[in-house]
Formats: sequence, C-alpha cells, structure tokens
Amino acid sequence: MSNEYLKFDQMAEALLEKAQRDGAETMWDRRAAQKTQCGFGEAGVCCRICAMGPCRVSPVPGKGAERGICGASADTIVARNFARMCAGGTSAHSDHARDIVHAMHASKAEGPFKIRDEAKLRRIAAEWGIEAADTKETYALAHELANMALEEFGKPFGTQRFLQRSQKDRLNIWERENIAPRAIDMEVTTLMHSTHIGCASDYESIFRRGMRTSMSDGWGGSMIGTEFSDIMYGTPTAKPSSSNLGVIDKDQVNILIHGHDPNLAEMVVLAAENPEMIELAKAKGAKGINIVGMCCTGNEMTMRHGIKIAGNFYQQELCIITGAIEAAVVDVQCIFPALPALAKKYHTRFISTSEKAKISGDLYIQFSEATGLENANEIVKIAVENFVNRDASKVEIPDVKCDTMVGYSVEAIIDHLDKVVNTNTTDKTGTVKPLTDVIYAGVIRGAAGVVGCNNPKQVHDLAHVTVMKELIKRDVICVTTGCAAQAAAKAGLLQLEAKEMCGRGLKEVCERVNIPPVLHMGSCVDISRILDLVNLCALEKDVDTALLPVVGIAPEWMSEKAVSIANYVVGSGINTYLGVIPQVLGSPNFTKLLTEDCQEFIGAHFVFEKDPIVMVDKIMEDLEAKRTALGI
Ligand code: SF4
Ligand code: FE2
Repeated sequence: MSNEYLKFDQMAEALLEKAQRDGAETMWDRRAAQKTQCGFGEAGVCCRICAMGPCRVSPVPGKGAERGICGASADTIVARNFARMCAGGTSAHSDHARDIVHAMHASKAEGPFKIRDEAKLRRIAAEWGIEAADTKETYALAHELANMALEEFGKPFGTQRFLQRSQKDRLNIWERENIAPRAIDMEVTTLMHSTHIGCASDYESIFRRGMRTSMSDGWGGSMIGTEFSDIMYGTPTAKPSSSNLGVIDKDQVNILIHGHDPNLAEMVVLAAENPEMIELAKAKGAKGINIVGMCCTGNEMTMRHGIKIAGNFYQQELCIITGAIEAAVVDVQCIFPALPALAKKYHTRFISTSEKAKISGDLYIQFSEATGLENANEIVKIAVENFVNRDASKVEIPDVKCDTMVGYSVEAIIDHLDKVVNTNTTDKTGTVKPLTDVIYAGVIRGAAGVVGCNNPKQVHDLAHVTVMKELIKRDVICVTTGCAAQAAAKAGLLQLEAKEMCGRGLKEVCERVNIPPVLHMGSCVDISRILDLVNLCALEKDVDTALLPVVGIAPEWMSEKAVSIANYVVGSGINTYLGVIPQVLGSPNFTKLLTEDCQEFIGAHFVFEKDPIVMVDKIMEDLEAKRTALGI
C-alpha cells in the first residue's frame, strides 16, 4: 500500500513503540485480545432483545437455526439491530443539539453564553414564523426561538420545521413514503417500541421506521445543532489552522478538548484567554496555554476559532502517549473509556464533564449552563497547575503538522462564490448558482460529501485520503466533516495548494473562487450543512436532490451515529457509499433492500465497497449516469 501521502503512519508506529516502553495499553492491544470477532454479530444475526435469548440464527440461509425462540427470522433480527443503531445515533446527535438549545435558553447579554450571530438568530426566527423577528429584543427572541426548538423534540403533532426548506419534489417523496420525521423523541421512542420483542417483524417496515427516525436526526437534531451553535458561537468563516500531533507544544500547557459538544469547549477557550490564567502558566514555567482539539469538539472549535487540530478518533490515545498533555477534557461521544487508565501512565489529568458521559477513573467536573465559565476556569487551572508534574523524559511529540484551511460553512462558501458573480448580468449574489453552473457545464463532474469516523477495519485515514485524492483528481469537488475532515487536513487536502492535485476543471474552479478542492464544513452534526448545500443546489435548479450528481461517502465509519447519518443522507435522495460493511449481510433480503430496493421508493441507495479505488470508480459511474439522465 502506498503511504507517500502521510508521514502519519510512521509517526503512529513510533508512538505505539513508546506506549509499549511506557507500559501503556492501546486500542491495538485490545483489538488483538479480541482475537477473531464474532461472526454472528458481524452478520447482524445475534439477537438479545429479550431474555428468552440471546438467540443467534444462521448467517447462511438454509444452514443451522433459521429462527430465534420467538420465531424472528434473520431478516427481522438484522432489521431490528440496524434500526436500533439508527435510534442510538439519532439520540446522540439530537441530545447534543438539545444541550445547545438549552445553552441558548440560558443566554444573556452579560453572561458567557451570548448570541454571537444575531443576523442568523433573526433569519431562523423568521423562517420559523416568529412575528417581528427583525425587531424583537435579541434575548427575548433567542429565548422564544429556543422554546420553539425544544418543542421539536417532543411536540405531539406535526413534522420537523426544517423540512420546509427542502425542494418540493423531495418533500413530496417524504410525505408519500411516510418518512417525514415527527418530533425527535417520538421517532426514537416509536422505533424502540417497534423493535421490541413481539412488535414489527416486517423488515421493510422496520427499515422505513429507522429511516424516518434518522431523518429526525438530519433534518431535526443535527440541523438544530448546527444552526443554533452558529447563533450562539458564530457562523464559521474561512480561516487558517494547523493539524496533526505536532500542534502539541512542548513549551506550553497543553489542554486537549475532545468529544462533540461545543458548549464546554467554548468556555474552556474563554477561560484559557484569561490573562490571569496565562500569568499562572508562566509562573509554573510554561510559555502559555495551548488548546488542541480532537474529533468533533476539535472541529467545532477550529471552524469558529481556528483552534489547532491534534488529530482524529484513532489519535486520542496517541495524543496522551506524547506525554505532553496536562489535561484531556471531554464532553460527549467517541471518547474511549480507556483514556483515564492511559492518562495515569503519564501526568495527564483526565476530566469528564457530562453526566451523559461520566467516565470513571480520574476527575469528574460537572458542566452546566449555569456554571459553565466557572467549570472551565477550574479545569484550566487544574491543567496549568499540572504542568510542573510533566516528566520531560516521557515527552515525545512527533514533528508532524500540516497547515490547513477550515471554516467553510454554507454562508462562507456562498461568500466565496459571490466573488465570481458577474454583476453585469442578471445573476445575483448570495446564491449557489456559480456552483451549479460549473457542475452543469461539466467543468466539475459532481460533488461528494466525505464524512465519518476511523475504524481499525480500514488502515487509519488511508480510505479517507485515497477517496478524496482520487475524486479531486477526477474533477469532483469534496466537502468533508468529522474525522474524515481531520484526515484531509493532515494530508494537506484542505490547503489552497491542493488544487495542484486536481483535474483541470476543478483546479480552475479552486483558483477562481480561491478555495481548496476539499472544504472543511465542520463536525458530524454539521453534515446538516452538507444537506443544506445540496438542497440549495436542488432549489437553484428546481430538481429533486436525487437527480443531482452528488454522493455521500463514509470510508471508515464505525458509530451508531454514522448509521443514522447514512440513512438520512439516503433518505435525502443521495446515494451513500460505505467503506466498512454494516452488520446486515446475514439477511440477503435486508441487504438488497439497502443496496437496491430502496432506490424505488426513496430514489437513492447504499453501496458497500471496502476498496477505496474501486469505490471511486463506482462513484464516477454513478455521477456520470446522473449527468446523462439530466442531459448535461
Ligand atoms: Fe431470541 Fe426473539 Fe428474544 Fe431475539 S426477541 S432474543 S430472537 S426470542
Ligand atoms: Fe463526530
């Protein structure tokens, strides 16, 4: 396998050797201890939904037990397991969003939780039909909007408000197929009920309920999470940052912020800017305080403040193994429970902060909207005071980092597109028309959203980077979020100079619009930004999203959240390519439903393909077929 694009793997190897010397365990030790993974689980045919079980049916039809004790077939068991992953993923994104809305509900002019994008507040308030949205007092309006958003989680009637943004053909399909999502909590509850012992056995019905639940994530929880975070903390604009473990500074107090929810991290950044805290750091012998981000908390903070990116999911252990992290501060999601024990091998304090993700083994400081800045002050002080405990002989920071551009919200992209609008024509600024124009003209062949996690079933970052490099070479513009975005950052794909890796058409577009060929659009909840962008293109051309030459890709996904995302992206009419095969192959019927049959009623389907180059070949065929069908 070619490894020319990342010094990263060599760096990981050195740190893994260091871990061994330090007696520190990593995910690779635990992966080895698992030996062969369970074949029944892998095929999705293990059921432990009731206490008559666990039951496992044969993953190969016609061989062994074909039904669980209750009579559930492989189709039912696989469908239920898959659906429950959708419920888990939707819960995670949406509960995160609810916390953001609660922060907005608690916002006030003089506190640390403030409205930072008032224009967006007024725009969303008007979109949701609040009267006098342009004149109401800012915080009265923010509280009214927050109350409305909280109702999106539990209202007894009606569907998600943001659906009304959608192009009408897509909206009609959702209504026709009964997958227009209702209140978020209701969708999750209904799905858990529906997949309880003795409820639905029809695998297609279970899939449809799962998709509707996932749609309440994409067009509900995630969209609320993104829009309300922007209102609270500012809508991202294009800005430089840097990435990879080399952003850890041996001369400064290093604080790692990791997880997903920006509420805590925003307060930590504020606390670390406090001159008194910086003075204290200097008194302890450090040159200052260096905040570095990981996973989506890192993405949220780099998008809005240019905070440096230490790495993605798989690097959370490596980061601590550098021996130079004074505090690893976490909020929710994608945090290894192994971290506190690992931190104890070094001087690192591990601090968990959410009752939803209380991780035992070191410190717990409960974060709340009422005490947010005080909590953050306490955390930063602990980190600063810990600097003197650092053991210089255990410090080894890889000399690897890469400059990157970040911050491409939909608004930032439109801002860039505005620069190429010829105002002598009837073309207006503030639209995505320049983008649809170059796609329809064939200058670029289509667009891809590359998202998702890391998974040891794929070589770390290899699938992400290969897919993106191959796509831009073939004139497909990429937008990216989550750990995929961090992989792109480390590989230099988010720099303006990456235009040199592109085909001729995309290179020209990058030069004229002054953007990199791969655009960092944020965290995993910010896949809603991608939905928004594609939807704006669909509105611009007044066609269903399913007709556009766009695809979704998750080359290295691993979480329940990713299952929910894949479902709502397909539900939004976008074919979705998965580089890790979901645990469904034990049901050929359910697999066919995902990869073929759902095309008939939703206009999009899943593609499973582990090999990134073969995947890109398939994507190009897909995009060109869409172009032919559109006559472009
Ligand atoms: Fe077995 Fe049915 Fe219970 Fe699942 S729900 S554990 S298949 S008896
Ligand atoms: Fe994420």
